[in-house]
Order: sequence, then C-alpha cells, then structure tokens
Amino acid sequence: MTDRITLSVIKADVGGYVGHSSIHTDLIETAKEKLSNAQEKGMLIDFHVTRCGDDLELIMTHKHGVDAENIHKLAWNTFVACTEVAKELKLYGAGQDLLSDAFTGTVKGMGPGVAEMEFEERKSEPIVIFMADKTSPGAWNLPLYEIFADPFNTAGLVIDPTMHDGFIFEVVDVYEHKKITFSCPEEIYDLLMFIGAMRRFIIRAVYRKDGMIAAAASTQKLSLIAGKYVGKDDPVLIVRCQAGLPAVGEVLEPFAFSHIVEGWMRGSHHGPLMPVAFYEANPSRFDGPPRVIAAGFQLCNGKLIGPRDLFDDPAFDEARRKANEIADYLRHHGPFEPHRLGLEDLEYTTMDQLMKKLEGRFQPE
Ligand code: 13P
Ligand code: 13P
Ligand code: MG
Ligand code: MG
Repeated sequence: MTDRITLSVIKADVGGYVGHSSIHTDLIETAKEKLSNAQEKGMLIDFHVTRCGDDLELIMTHKHGVDAENIHKLAWNTFVACTEVAKELKLYGAGQDLLSDAFTGTVKGMGPGVAEMEFEERKSEPIVIFMADKTSPGAWNLPLYEIFADPFNTAGLVIDPTMHDGFIFEVVDVYEHKKITFSCPEEIYDLLMFIGAMRRFIIRAVYRKDGMIAAAASTQKLSLIAGKYVGKDDPVLIVRCQAGLPAVGEVLEPFAFSHIVEGWMRGSHHGPLMPVAFYEANPSRFDGPPRVIAAGFQLCNGKLIGPRDLFDDPAFDEARRKANEIADYLRHHGPFEPHRLGLEDLEYTTMDQLMKKLEGRFQPE
C-alpha cells in the first residue's frame, strides 16, 4: 500500500452487440456491479465503467500500485462475469479477448489492454482517458508526438517555462520485447524514425524530465499473444493535463486531424480515426470507421469527478466530416492496398490456404 494514487484503465472485448458494432447494456451493468462490490470492500477508491464500440472499459482508482495482482484479478473476474452474460445473450465473439482460462497474476499477456499510472495527485488533477475501437495501439503514436513534442500543436512547449525542457518518450518494440527512451526535443528525429513505424514501435509512456509521469498507453497486441488474428487491440491512453503539462485543449487538438490507422473491417484495413461523442462510438459502416472517444475527469482524492464527453463539441465536426470523406475515398479501393493492409500485416487472411490450394498451378514464368 502506498499514499500515491493509481489510475488503472483495463479493457477487453467480451462480446459485441450487434456483430462488433457496440455493446449490450447488460454487460455494462454486470461490470458496474462487480466493481461496486470491490469498492464497498475498500479495494477501489472509485471506478467508472464505459465502452467504446464493442470494448468494455474499466476505469479504476486505488492505492495498490501498477500491476497489482488484486486489481488485475478484479478486472479479469469482471470480464469473465460479463462473458457469461454475453454467452447467455449469444452476443458476437463472447469472450473474444480472453485468451486464457485461468488468471495467472496479471491480465497482461492474457488479452485485455492495460494502461496504468501511479502518481501523487496534484492540487488539481485534470485527466483525459482516450479509448478507441477498430484500431490498434500504434494509433496513439502520432497524437502523443504532437501533444508532447510538437510546438505547432502544443503552445505550452514554447510559452510555458515549466514545459520548455520537453518530455521523455518510452517506446516499446513489440516484436522484440525491448524498450528505449528518447529525450525530446533533442532526439525528435530519432524518435520519429521509430514511432512512424507504428505497428512495431509503440509509445508506452511519456514523462516530464523531472520524472513525473504524464501519459500511459496500452501496448498489448492480441495477435502477437495468440499467434493469429483474434480481434483488434482497440487501445486506451491516459494523459494528465495542465500546470506544467499540456492543457486539455492541447491534448485534444491532434484529434482534429483524422489520421489513418489500421484495424478497420476484420482488423485488415486502414481507415481514418474519427473522434466522436460517447453516444456515437458505434462503428457500423464496414465495421467502422475506427472511433476514438475522450473522457475527461478531475481527480479529487482519488474520486473520479466526471466524465466530461470531450469530443462532444462541434469544433470536431470538421474532423468527423473529413473522416467520412477519407472513408469514402479508401472504401473505393475495395480489396486493394493501401486500404487493405499489406500482406505481411494481414492478420485475418486466407492467403496461406489459397497459396496451398494453388501451389501446383504456379509455373516458372
Ligand atoms: P467471422 O464472421 O467469421 O467471425 O469473421 C468476421 C469478423 O467479424 C472478424 O472479426
Ligand atoms: P473488434 O476487434 O472490435 O472486435 O473488431 C473485429 C473486427 O474484425 C471487425 O470487423
Ligand atoms: Mg469485437
Ligand atoms: Mg473492439
């Protein structure tokens, strides 16, 4: 136990309604019940249950630190209970993201996505939690770069003396299971060389140069765990804001540009990441286009005051309009790259079987 607060966001897709487009309210209610019991027992300070598309999002505050076994077990048991409900209702892909039958001390490597951070709550602690559907963890690379390293996005990097020194990015190589840190602005060219390849090099955390944690993202990739396509990883991201960190508006600003991410239809297509209000986070067209929501909270002694639905703002209408235009444009490519992912990136492919079937028909040219 520690005096510091831990914020844990743990998510999983345990069944879609209808198809992969959204979530049934019974799953939300079941999750709330489980977390409410844990709060009554004193395990959690506070919690909020929500969803983005077909992904169930557990937002929890507590005093047990990151990677705490009891908190991960609570999340796991909650997902298992929700899976039971999903099975009763025959929802689509019930238990989709739960890749194991038994809990082994952490949900990491078992399917759910995790973003956690432990810190001392400041005098005022504004936090934005981003949650996405039909995409994958690399989707945060571009916005995180803009928030913490791009002065054209974040005025505070220029204007605020407490931010002028820049930030440290922790980047994970998810193929090689290695991590590296880059100190910015000094190393932004090195950083960009890696994080531009967002399938492999994923920003997991951002720190101020005095060591204070500013952002934490989920980096779990289901296909790398399961060895085959099982669903997309639909990532989450926590960003602390204001007073020596980027302002809430600076943190939201990159999403006014609907950048291209992977993960649309069958996890196998590129599409624009559309920022939407909570009620619009139901990717239906071609199972998309990919969505992101932003839930704002003020922490108050660990209590989650909120959420504020931060993309529920007409100022993001143009990004949504543009996303629809890009969606139309990309959809016209049908099964052609670059709408469809490159062969090496296709996780849900018939190519292996097709190659075997046609093997004998290939002749030297
Ligand atoms: P199935 O209909 O075979 O599940 O595949 C489509 C899909 O939704 C991929 O997740
Ligand atoms: P999810 O990863 O959100 O379940 O989407 C799966 C899919 O293949 C949609 O087409
Ligand atoms: Mg799904
Ligand atoms: Mg999903």
